[in-house]
Amino acid sequence: MKIILEAVDLKKVFRVGKIDVPALRGVDLQIKEGEFLAVMGPSGCGKSTLLHILGGLLTPTSGRVIVDGMDISAISDKERTEIRRQKIGFVFQRYNLFPTLTALQNLELARQIHSGKNGHSGRERLDEILELLGLKDKMNHKPLEMSGGEQQRLALARAILTQPAIVLADEPTGNLDSVNSQTVLRMLRELNRKYRQTIVMITHEKETAAVAHRIVEMKDGRIINRVQNFCYATELEGIV
Ligand SMILES: Nc1ncnc2c1ncn2[C@@H]1O[C@H](COP(=O)(O)OP(=O)(O)OP(=O)(O)O)[C@@H](O)[C@H]1O
Ligand SMILES: [Mg+2]
Repeated sequence: MKIILEAVDLKKVFRVGKIDVPALRGVDLQIKEGEFLAVMGPSGCGKSTLLHILGGLLTPTSGRVIVDGMDISAISDKERTEIRRQKIGFVFQRYNLFPTLTALQNLELARQIHSGKNGHSGRERLDEILELLGLKDKMNHKPLEMSGGEQQRLALARAILTQPAIVLADEPTGNLDSVNSQTVLRMLRELNRKYRQTIVMITHEKETAAVAHRIVEMKDGRIINRVQNFCYATELEGIV
């Protein structure tokens, strides 16, 4: 068993004017390679903050984040950006696609940014991913010419194209109807099972969290509950 991502006593305080807003109040979390973890909890409890810190987009006020053996809290911004490029695929709560680029250009940009890693261009995967996500005939559309579901699937394609060690997904089904949600969830499950892709997914919905191996529940900046999903007990044996 290898720990691919670890948070040690993470705290984050945002300063808004003269007021301190504590978003994380001491979070400890270990994520195993190949694990599919869901993070749940009410709005404002710190889920996105945690995900952004785990992925090196935000720095914690105190505590440490260890990505694949490397303590990213103790390195420069430049080095952290590099680790992020190499190891992390983000799917954001809002899709964060480039509106002036077509779908294909959005994917190509991501590939250029990540290229060089493992000598792997991701090209061989593109067709397979587009097929799975039903995006093949949308490649010349710009994000605003796509439905919400298509944009979210494109954001997912972009995150997984370069085979990151860890996919961090912030409510990837939050804005989708049930059909699109099912497609995205099926894709994440398949990715996890087929490629042992490590995934951390935030969600509000119990049914969505049910696809994960393990569910952690947050409240007021803390993890208050951790449960294994025994539906996948045999699958987990291969990981744990
Ligand atoms: N950039 C920021 N500046 C100030 N306060 C912030 C900032 N980002 C988040 N917060 C505050 O930190 C707390 C946690 O926010 P966070 O976005 O992590 O919540 P969340 O659990 O993801 O909520 P949601 O389910 O609504 O997305 C909230 O009180 C929020 O207002
Ligand atoms: Mg959030």
